[in-house]
Amino acid sequence: MKALVWHGTADIRCDTVPDPGIEHPRDAIVKVTSCAICGSDLHLYDHFMPGMEKGDIMGHEFMGEVVEVGAEAKGALKVGERVVVPFTIWCGECDQCRRGNYSVCERSNRNKAAADKLFGHATAGLFGYTHLTGGYAGGQAEYVRVPFADKTHVKIPEGLSDEQVLFLGDIFPTGWQAAAQCDIEPTDTVAIWGCGPVGQMTIRSAILLGARQVIAIDQVPERLAMARAGGAVTIDFANESVVERLNELTGGKGPEKCIDAVGMEAHATATLDSIMDRAKQALMLESDRAHVLREMMYVCRPAGTLSIPGVYGGLIDKVPFGMAMNKGLTWRMGQTHVNRWTDDLLERIQEGQIDPSFVITHTVKLEDGPGMYKTFRDKQDGCIKVVLKP
Ligand SMILES: NC(=O)c1ccc[n+]([C@@H]2O[C@H](COP(=O)([O-])OP(=O)(O)OC[C@H]3O[C@@H](n4cnc5c(N)ncnc54)[C@H](O)[C@@H]3O)[C@@H](O)[C@H]2O)c1
Ligand SMILES: [Zn+2]
Ligand SMILES: [Zn+2]
Repeated sequence: MKALVWHGTADIRCDTVPDPGIEHPRDAIVKVTSCAICGSDLHLYDHFMPGMEKGDIMGHEFMGEVVEVGAEAKGALKVGERVVVPFTIWCGECDQCRRGNYSVCERSNRNKAAADKLFGHATAGLFGYTHLTGGYAGGQAEYVRVPFADKTHVKIPEGLSDEQVLFLGDIFPTGWQAAAQCDIEPTDTVAIWGCGPVGQMTIRSAILLGARQVIAIDQVPERLAMARAGGAVTIDFANESVVERLNELTGGKGPEKCIDAVGMEAHATATLDSIMDRAKQALMLESDRAHVLREMMYVCRPAGTLSIPGVYGGLIDKVPFGMAMNKGLTWRMGQTHVNRWTDDLLERIQEGQIDPSFVITHTVKLEDGPGMYKTFRDKQDGCIKVVLKP
């Protein structure tokens, strides 16, 4: 079959690789009809995330048709069913899964020992996302093996297009969880850094969850325009002071809720902290650029909440922790517990409250995927979200 394969920094190729097969009775094989490139894939493309190996198949946002089901998954899934596959693989039986903490499932990461050593405790297995999260082949491919398939799926009812439901596997619940974990109150201002696909889903989620005011920050004109179309007030960080504008828009109080939908590759105008981050990252003295985190800590209203869906991989430097402690800020973060949210979000799509396909700007064949990684990363051609058709 054809698949997008990681070969090294900024080197992804469409290769011919062996078809996957059932390896465990709880597996299923899915024929992929649509998949997408996620901002998290860019951290692998740019090789800021450790744990990739040459030959790894990319992709963790995908859907398709079930073509084979292992003996122990047969009660839950049937050949011919249409499913979205969540990027977090969960067993449904461990202590964390029973609490709904699917992205920290205790059993789905088959490289548990290595992850235990690095993080203290292993987190869940993820598709197409480094050997620290199980080294599972991803879904930017014609076929994919889904482990723990009896749990790791979302069944899609008839009448909905791939484009309407594909993002249930990642960015829609990610934006939703980012907003939900802010416990938004009707008097709240929610400020969201980053208007990429995750930021866009976060903006619409914060509005659906009843925020008084949503403010979105980026520097890419078409992303800021899409944020405004979604109901946000926008700040262009290349041309305006984020801190000054946020204070202006909140009567000097600062936003109650601050969301980092940027992650470890934050850009910044030439502030002292961002120059230092770039230098340290180049010298491998820190792995992640923390500019957005510092800005959120500074501007957030005391007793407010910082919610962090943006991915960080390792070490950050010069974080003013004393400021956060004295301001009494609450931190919420993590990979998304996808299936915790999907029943509700699927219903909202069916009811027409939201159609997540608004974010798609490019649809191409799988073979054109390698070029689209670059287009998406460099924000060329107005690119906001890419869907690939195997
Ligand atoms: N927690 C999860 O489960 C989960 C799931 C999906 C994605 N993510 C992460 O979410 C983040 C965003 O993903 P995406 O798909 O939207 O990616 P993206 O790279 O398209 O979006 C990031 C956006 O942030 C903007 N940005 C950069 N520096 C900024 C700054 N200083 N202030 C404001 N905006 C800034 C960029 O211009 C870009 O538009 C990534 O880190 C990704 O890994 C996390
Ligand atoms: Zn993702
Ligand atoms: Zn589990």
